[in-house]
Amino acid sequence: MTQRVLTGITTTGTPHLGNYVGAIRPAIAASREPGVESFFFLADYHALIKCDEPDRIERSRLEIAATWLAAGLDPERVTFYRQSDIPETPELTWLLTCVTAKGQMNRAHAYKAATDANEAQGKDADDGITMGLFSYPILMAADILLFNAHRVPVGRDQVQHIEMARDVAQRFNHLFGKQRELFVLPQAQIDEAVAMLPGLDGRKMSKSYDNAIPLFEGGPKALKEAIALIVTDSKLPGEPKDPDNSHLVTIHDAFASAEQRSAFRAELRDGLGWGEAKQRLVERIEAHVGPMRAHYADLMAHPERIEEALLVGARKARAIATPFLQELRGAVGLRSMKAVVRASTATVAAEAPKLPVFKQYREADGLFYFKLTASDNLVLLQSRSFTEGREAGAWVKRLKTEGAAALAGAPVELGAERGVVEQALAALAAAQE
Ligand code: TRP
Repeated sequence: MTQRVLTGITTTGTPHLGNYVGAIRPAIAASREPGVESFFFLADYHALIKCDEPDRIERSRLEIAATWLAAGLDPERVTFYRQSDIPETPELTWLLTCVTAKGQMNRAHAYKAATDANEAQGKDADDGITMGLFSYPILMAADILLFNAHRVPVGRDQVQHIEMARDVAQRFNHLFGKQRELFVLPQAQIDEAVAMLPGLDGRKMSKSYDNAIPLFEGGPKALKEAIALIVTDSKLPGEPKDPDNSHLVTIHDAFASAEQRSAFRAELRDGLGWGEAKQRLVERIEAHVGPMRAHYADLMAHPERIEEALLVGARKARAIATPFLQELRGAVGLRSMKAVVRASTATVAAEAPKLPVFKQYREADGLFYFKLTASDNLVLLQSRSFTEGREAGAWVKRLKTEGAAALAGAPVELGAERGVVEQALAALAAAQE
């Protein structure tokens, strides 16, 4: 059976070398394994919890998306999307919120750390704490459960959140599953083999320690300048160095083959100066990162390509999420009223929701048109006129197969909120598969 692997990347900040080695590279490698279906998304709703600077959010989403694509993520193979393009996520968050024990949320590490810090300073425990921070684990549970992920690769700090997701999934299954497992119980995956890259000072590379080496931003110059700041011992050129006690060597290893690693060690033992060793390190990283950086720069110069890739990803994701959420709504009792009448008069299972329909037609002016109408006759899309019936037909076909992704360039006017139209298109696309 295929294993669904899902992980989110909070979009605050700019990826550094530690993110690349510790998360991006192994995740992309894992996505190429057979039997794995990967979901990677930009956790931009989570970013809003930590950051109230719109420009930073915008910039970071772009940089992180470009980084993953430049690092070799194949959006054909992987479902790569923005959390905020999936309205089913906040909707599921609410369904889960209603079955989550508040006491359990009180014990979530991130919230607990914030209240502890407040108390230590003699402030009110909840001083400055938002409901976003408090509910953070529920939103994360919704991310995971919406796609019934089996495995969730995360850092150790996130393990508690995955356990909370399991708990709430179990509770939901128990309350509403009727002998069925609505949700898969997800498992945290902590990859021990993956290197935790040290930063300039030897502690874990992290923006908050101010010891990070940039991945792409700033180009080769910034890379070189950062590497010049790596702390080493004060042995002079010619003196033998101890490669096993140098985080410069650990960083080098993350980008070197087995042969290159042992050659580098031998040279250091023979007295290679730290200055030259840093030069080698720059070359080693540059050989690996340089070509990706060119791709990154190209993407950053064409944000519309990134947008397009993400919208295609959102459509793929929603082809799963939209019908599943419909099922979950039914499970908790948010059902069509018509279904209730039917069910009470005859014991028929609830019918599948009626799909919207495309209609093509010709007006008295001799021109061709099409529109998309919901089952309650609400006009969702109205096309402009076409001189050729074929043209109208081609657009209908594109909208049917590509869904919301085709909306951007389509010669149509929206008759309802964008989200409603997108959902209708996603439902149609899903029905075709
Ligand atoms: N909270 C995660 C982090 O900060 C990001 C995240 C959000 C996530 N939703 C997720 C990770 C779902 C895994 C699965 O690292």
